[in-house]
Amino acid sequence: MERGLILLVAALMIYVSPGVQGTAHLSFVNTTVNITRHGCGVTKLCVETPNDCDPAGNTSCLFGSVVSTTPVASNGANLSIQLRGDSNGYVALGLTVNASEGTTMLFICGQNNSDNGTFFFRTMQRNNTDNMLSATERRVREIRGMVEGSVIKCEFDVPDVNASNTRTSHVTTFSILLGTGSFDGNVVGPFNITLNSGPLNLANPASNVPTTPAPTNTTTGNNSGAVQPHAVLLLLSVLTLSVMLRA
Ligand SMILES: *[C@@H]1O[C@H](CO)[C@@H](O)[C@H](O)[C@H]1NC(C)=O
Ligand SMILES: *[C@@H]1O[C@H](CO)[C@@H](O)[C@H](O)[C@H]1NC(C)=O
Ligand SMILES: *[C@@H]1O[C@H](CO)[C@@H](O)[C@H](O)[C@H]1NC(C)=O
Ligand SMILES: *[C@@H]1O[C@H](CO)[C@@H](O)[C@H](O)[C@H]1NC(C)=O
Ligand SMILES: *[C@@H]1O[C@H](CO)[C@@H](O)[C@H](O)[C@H]1NC(C)=O
Ligand SMILES: *[C@@H]1O[C@H](CO)[C@@H](O)[C@H](O)[C@H]1NC(C)=O
Ligand SMILES: *[C@@H]1O[C@H](CO)[C@@H](O)[C@H](O)[C@H]1NC(C)=O
Ligand SMILES: *[C@@H]1O[C@H](CO)[C@@H](O)[C@H](O)[C@H]1NC(C)=O
Ligand SMILES: *[C@@H]1O[C@H](CO)[C@@H](O)[C@H](O)[C@H]1NC(C)=O
Repeated sequence: MERGLILLVAALMIYVSPGVQGTAHLSFVNTTVNITRHGCGVTKLCVETPNDCDPAGNTSCLFGSVVSTTPVASNGANLSIQLRGDSNGYVALGLTVNASEGTTMLFICGQNNSDNGTFFFRTMQRNNTDNMLSATERRVREIRGMVEGSVIKCEFDVPDVNASNTRTSHVTTFSILLGTGSFDGNVVGPFNITLNSGPLNLANPASNVPTTPAPTNTTTGNNSGAVQPHAVLLLLSVLTLSVMLRA
């Protein structure tokens, strides 16, 4: 059923490109980008809004995930990032040490309405003080993106990320920002932050799994569809915690 829906979508745009700069042109390859919650809290750090929303479903869900390698001296960590959201302009994931000062590395996946909604990717720097965006070049590899209506999905790798370059902070400790903005074919509109994770260790997939689990009352008012994923997630986090305690 879902497959049928996907086949009906006329413009399915995928780009694959090795090592592009922020605004480089991208070549065109026809595959799909599959982003799921699989591995959240275990193999990848996930942030999303609304809580526990399904990036593979077709209800509104702004979702980001990060897998970080262990940093190597003088190199930093390599990040593999997934991003999924709903926008007629762009969705973006930002990494910053403090969202209210300094700058944010912003990774933008968007659709170009001046070009039939084709996918584009861009890196920008956000000034956290005044929310201004400026073009910046940051090495990003393996960019894959896709647009289906207002749903934008993308994956990419960012090598050599080091938070200590910006401030005295642990190398892989960043706040993850998720948000959206407009794009008119030329100008990337202001980044509207929908979620600020607060400082998280990107190298620990469970770093945002609450240590005091939320009350597990099963008297779910109207939360029908989301019950089971939540339970699974909670179970996984408990497992992870016990593994960590044993280590
Ligand atoms: C994405 O999922 C579809 C359907 O489940 C599958 O056919 C396709 O091979 C997957 N693509 C990738 C790149 O994993
Ligand atoms: C997507 O939405 C359609 C209706 O808009 C619904 O029939 C379908 O089951 C949904 N698919 C998923 C995976 O949620
Ligand atoms: C990150 O990737 C680069 C090559 O792209 C590699 O030289 C480096 O060792 C990697 N760093 C880590 C921590 O894996
Ligand atoms: C991170 O950057 C700081 C300051 O530039 C440097 O001293 C440190 O060695 C770097 N760490 C890693 C793991 O790259
Ligand atoms: C972030 O910066 C603001 C303003 O400079 C400061 O008040 C706040 O304490 C900082 N937060 C963190 C977590 O460092
Ligand atoms: C950010 O904006 C503020 C206010 O406009 C300015 O004072 C500051 O220099 C800017 N920072 C950077 C890194 O551009
Ligand atoms: C958007 O499309 C317009 C018209 O084709 C093109 O000039 C512009 O470069 C595109 N922008 C991006 C970021 O792809
Ligand atoms: C930012 O996002 C919020 C919530 O999605 C929305 O209510 C608001 O209008 C947006 N602001 C701008 C300037 O786009
Ligand atoms: C049901 O959902 C509505 C809107 O999403 C919310 O305002 C309300 O508090 C929810 N009720 C329960 C019992 O969760």
